[in-house]
Amino acid sequence: MELEPIAQSLSKLPEQFSCVDWPDALHDVPESRCHWFSTRGREEFKRLLKNLPLCPLYIEFGTFLGAGSTTFALESRKDLQAICLDNWEIATIEEESKPLNYKDKDGNVCGFARGEGEALKHCQNNLWEYRSRVHLLRTTTSHVTVDILANAGLQPDCVFIDDDHGKEPFLKRLFRCRYRWPNSLIVCDDYCKAWPGVIEGVAEAFRRGWYREDESQMLGNRMIAFKRNR
Ligand SMILES: C[S@@+](CC[C@H](N)C(=O)[O-])C[C@H]1O[C@@H](n2cnc3c(N)ncnc32)[C@H](O)[C@@H]1O
Repeated sequence: MELEPIAQSLSKLPEQFSCVDWPDALHDVPESRCHWFSTRGREEFKRLLKNLPLCPLYIEFGTFLGAGSTTFALESRKDLQAICLDNWEIATIEEESKPLNYKDKDGNVCGFARGEGEALKHCQNNLWEYRSRVHLLRTTTSHVTVDILANAGLQPDCVFIDDDHGKEPFLKRLFRCRYRWPNSLIVCDDYCKAWPGVIEGVAEAFRRGWYREDESQMLGNRMIAFKRNR
């Protein structure tokens, strides 16, 4: 999608979707580049991103600190525009689900994990150099969010689903994405044993015939991509 239509569509969104403003300067929070974007499957994901049309629109559900999937997509395609949705409500890191880069290069736990600085501030710092291509929407998402974005005219080339991993929320998001954006590449993260909701949701999507096996592709060991070819 061209820049102007994206801006017009964003301006049509209801008030609770208004874009977060970028500050004039970096936030004063300690650098925290922690993320939950697996290192496996990145090359396959990059290949799919490279195959998207010119100036692709990427919509991401679940951005966290922006240092993982978001930075990867923005780095992979310099002409990509990203719309990133998150409520940025995570304030602490649970011991059992530590992100990658939890510690910095000196071996110290990163500032965010020490409780220093809100998630959104870290996200803006991490995405600072890409800010002309990034639209941050702070909202609690559901499948209805997909309809709201689509009704405003947004037509992503790629959607990355990585927010609510419960079976029903995941399944409903996937269905709305497939229905409203039938030509988009849909990439779902955390399709792995640790997240049974995503595993069961994908199984249900196949059972219901939303996608055939040949319209899906594993990217590494925990991302699955869907692209309809009918
Ligand atoms: C697994 S993390 C995303 C990781 C990120 N993609 C990365 O590469 O580091 C999930 C994110 O989704 C957000 N999230 C979960 N459920 C949400 C919801 N219903 N609405 C908005 N954000 C949500 C959380 O705040 C969190 O930042």
